[in-house]
Amino acid sequence: MVDEVLARSFERIGAEYDRYRPGFPPGAVELIAPDRVGAILDLGAGTGKFTELLTDRAERVVAVEPSEAMLGVLRAKLTTVEALLGSAESIPVADAAVDVVSVAQAFHWFDRIPACAEIARVLKPGGLLGLIWNHSDPACGWDRAAHRIAHPAVGESDGTTTSAADELPGFDHLGATRLRWTERIGRADYLKRWSTVSTFLVAGDDERNAMIAEIESVMDSDPETQGREAFDLPIVTDVFVYRRA
Ligand SMILES: C[S@@+](CC[C@H](N)C(=O)[O-])C[C@H]1O[C@@H](n2cnc3c(N)ncnc32)[C@H](O)[C@@H]1O
Repeated sequence: MVDEVLARSFERIGAEYDRYRPGFPPGAVELIAPDRVGAILDLGAGTGKFTELLTDRAERVVAVEPSEAMLGVLRAKLTTVEALLGSAESIPVADAAVDVVSVAQAFHWFDRIPACAEIARVLKPGGLLGLIWNHSDPACGWDRAAHRIAHPAVGESDGTTTSAADELPGFDHLGATRLRWTERIGRADYLKRWSTVSTFLVAGDDERNAMIAEIESVMDSDPETQGREAFDLPIVTDVFVYRRA
């Protein structure tokens, strides 16, 4: 069940999200749009961090996003993209209009059954759906510790579980691929990144400050981050590809 308060937390930010959140490896795009196509829809596009990798992959790139604040940043940044206010459960795009739908870091916020019906409606027959998530690398102790502070509900899982499923109504699952990459990031930017995460956005000032202090103390005690201004952050990107049945 989707937590509506967390799902709507992105109405509060835009520029900070775009500045501090990680991007995506180009290999993720290769998996869902290996050849240039007529039209791609990026759903739950946010500020366009995944959309920006799609602009040379289609004649027409459409971004749909429910937060005006996020969409405003996308519009300013990606002037050739058709940016539309809307949601996965009510996509403002005609039937069978796109070859590919991408959903980066957002499918877990969707009401899955109506969203799948809407995605199937806007896809051409045989069109592809790609679900993409960045995760912390389970081998990176300090980043995993920070994730446990930010997402206590995830607990001791390896942090790479997602809301993707082998079976989605109206789709055939073609496969899943895991990409590994590393981002060089400054300590201050790493801490700012946490302030753009849903649990921090909905927290009160005291709770948010306490979570940031806990993450700082992890960084002050882990040998890989202790006393450093910048470090290498390993990131795991999972890509799940489906075909419209
Ligand atoms: C973590 S952000 C990811 C944004 C962007 N795709 C990226 O990877 O940077 C999740 C996005 O999903 C959007 N979202 C939440 N509920 C949604 C829904 N029901 N339909 C479409 N987008 C939704 C949020 O507004 C937010 O922009």
